[in-house]
Amino acid sequence: MSDIVLKVANVSKRFGGLQALSEVGVTIKRGQVYGLIGPNGAGKTTFFNVLTGLYTPDGGTFELAGKPYTPSAVHEVAKAGIARTFQNIRLFAEMTALENVMVGRHVRTSSNLFGAILRTPSFKREEKEIKERAQELLEYVGVAKYADYKARTLSYGDQRRLEIARALATDPQLIALDEPAAGMNATEKVQLRELIDRIRNDNRTILLIEHDVKLVMGLCDHVTVLDYGKQLSVGTPAQVQNDPKVIEAYLGTGGN
Ligand SMILES: Nc1ncnc2c1ncn2[C@@H]1O[C@H](COP(=O)(O)OP(=O)(O)O)[C@@H](O)[C@H]1O
Ligand SMILES: [Mg+2]
Repeated sequence: MSDIVLKVANVSKRFGGLQALSEVGVTIKRGQVYGLIGPNGAGKTTFFNVLTGLYTPDGGTFELAGKPYTPSAVHEVAKAGIARTFQNIRLFAEMTALENVMVGRHVRTSSNLFGAILRTPSFKREEKEIKERAQELLEYVGVAKYADYKARTLSYGDQRRLEIARALATDPQLIALDEPAAGMNATEKVQLRELIDRIRNDNRTILLIEHDVKLVMGLCDHVTVLDYGKQLSVGTPAQVQNDPKVIEAYLGTGGN
């Protein structure tokens, strides 16, 4: 198995007159928590959107676990092994917490539409497995007691954790989290940190966009700092934190 999970090089994306990404790349090793940081508008979410097939890049190359991949359709990206959460939570609000995770799991199953309509024995068996796995994941992220609650009734922090459970349900090679701590209180942030640590210890690889510098510095093995769509600095948290370019960008924009 390749030691490198994700290798992205020279990704560019322009929106009209705005160069949102200029030749950005990351190399993420298996088991790493990789941080993508930078002031608001730096291009972090755009990078995720390109990576997960929501935006078509103007250029760039992508390799997942040593194999070239083209992030075209969102569904294909999930199949290839990248799962993500969104800066603005995107759950199925009227579905239960359990059902939200089951939807994620369906990416990895074989049942077709006929099986579902006819409710064949193999479909029912698979459905049962999906449900059990979804239940396990709710426990794993700590929202099992809300399994039968509609997603919209969960607290903000719990919805964020539910989104992580749904992403994990696809059994991803890489899980990409877009500002998972946004809007969380101090206690929820501590729990989130423990959860991300646990995910890493379970041998998964994480790409993390985060605004909370303390969280990033405490969690990440490696960091890329973006500013105006360009790579400002790359290195360990200690290295980038002491990079004068980074200090200037953050102070200059009044960021944290
Ligand atoms: N779909 C879009 N159309 C036009 N401009 C966009 C679009 N998405 C993002 N941008 C612009 O690209 C820049 C980077 O945005 P974004 O990637 O969301 O930044 P970040 O996540 O780092 O805060 C911003 O100036 C933003 O307004
Ligand atoms: Mg963003």
